[in-house]
Amino acid sequence: MIGRRDGFSMRNTTHSLPKSRVTIGVAIGVGILFGCVFAFLFPHGLFLSAPIITHRHSKSDNAQVGSASCESSERVDMLKSEFVAASEKNAELKKQIRELTEKLILAEQRKDQAQKQVLVLGKQQKAGGFGTVKGLRTFPTVVPDESVNTRLAKILEKVAVERELIVALANSNVKDMLEVWFTNIKRIGIPNYLVVALDEEISRFCKSKDVPEYKRDSDEGIDSVARTGGNHAVSGLKFRILREFLQLGYSVLLSDVDIVYLQNPFPYLYRDSDVESMTDGHDNGTAYGYNDVFDEPAMGWARYAHTMRMWVYNSGFFYIRPTIPSIELLDRVASRLSREPNSWDQAVFNEELFFPSHPGYDGLHAARRTMDFYLFMNSKVLFKTVRRDAKLSKFKPVIVHVNYHPDKLPRMKAIVEFYVRGKQDALEPFPDGSDW
Ligand SMILES: *[C@@H]1O[C@H](CO)[C@@H](O)[C@H](O)[C@H]1NC(C)=O
Repeated sequence: MIGRRDGFSMRNTTHSLPKSRVTIGVAIGVGILFGCVFAFLFPHGLFLSAPIITHRHSKSDNAQVGSASCESSERVDMLKSEFVAASEKNAELKKQIRELTEKLILAEQRKDQAQKQVLVLGKQQKAGGFGTVKGLRTFPTVVPDESVNTRLAKILEKVAVERELIVALANSNVKDMLEVWFTNIKRIGIPNYLVVALDEEISRFCKSKDVPEYKRDSDEGIDSVARTGGNHAVSGLKFRILREFLQLGYSVLLSDVDIVYLQNPFPYLYRDSDVESMTDGHDNGTAYGYNDVFDEPAMGWARYAHTMRMWVYNSGFFYIRPTIPSIELLDRVASRLSREPNSWDQAVFNEELFFPSHPGYDGLHAARRTMDFYLFMNSKVLFKTVRRDAKLSKFKPVIVHVNYHPDKLPRMKAIVEFYVRGKQDALEPFPDGSDW
């Protein structure tokens, strides 16, 4: 993915463009432009005074001798006003030239970026017939760089399967949920998962339960956040830690700990996008996107404005492939979270993933896939819809994420009772939503 990186650096080095080519291009462009503009404005030549004087002469042929001095001052005035008009035209021309030069530089820049991408992505090709073309969405993975973290590299070599694994971050505040989390993962027999222990207690707890864990070296600067930081600080840390996994060349299924595993998720992944994420949506429209028509009657004929809406991706459960766009996403989210301490990591994650480029902003170009909301189920779907539906409640999801409810631990346990032990009424004590 060298090309993507180059594409990116191009954007940051507008002022050190391939100089010779641009300069020659600009010079030729400006030269031609000058020629055209002058030919158009001054078809009889550049020297303004010549035709005026000729004209004057022809007139003065019939003039009285005594009017000569008057005539000459009149001529000076004429020349002056001609001169003013010419300078104005000159300024206007300069402005046009400046604008055209800017356009030329931009065009040069675009051509360069496009060509570099072509070089990286393969041979330039003709488009196929109607309905046969398909854009690229699976970007190539990075070359693994073990030097980033050799200790983690060793752990991952043992734990990962096909260079993929489930990763959860945990500190002692979530110890009870973590236990439900790994107990179900073990029950299913998923081998490739790892707990990033954010404190000593969790590290010991995992070791005692024979759970693969990775405790970061405490001298690493970002880790003081893990011990002392609040929820949001830990969220920012998550994106920084994840980066190392990707740099080492692994795909990560990032998982919160308030998730009950009911099947192995790996057979259900598509792996065709940079990010494949569970959704906070609760039906086809909210999960996969819909046309939300905004009505403004005062606009009369144009009262309906169409908008696109989608419930956000859940940043507590997503599969991320080790590609440049993925790593760029993590960096963008982490740096925004550190710059905007009051922001919510899930909102930032979605904004970076979805907002397109616009003036003053270069959007991320990452491929995205929304997971099936019945397979990768949030707790709103379970408690509002599925448990009341005779057919849907027979169907076993891959995971259930208790993201919509604060009473996480009892609901997790009830989900296990319902799906694993077949206790039909296990979910009944709980209201659809929380009572605040
Ligand atoms: C939702 O989408 C699925 C698959 O795309 C489809 O089979 C189903 O009928 C849709 N449900 C509704 C209510 O439209």
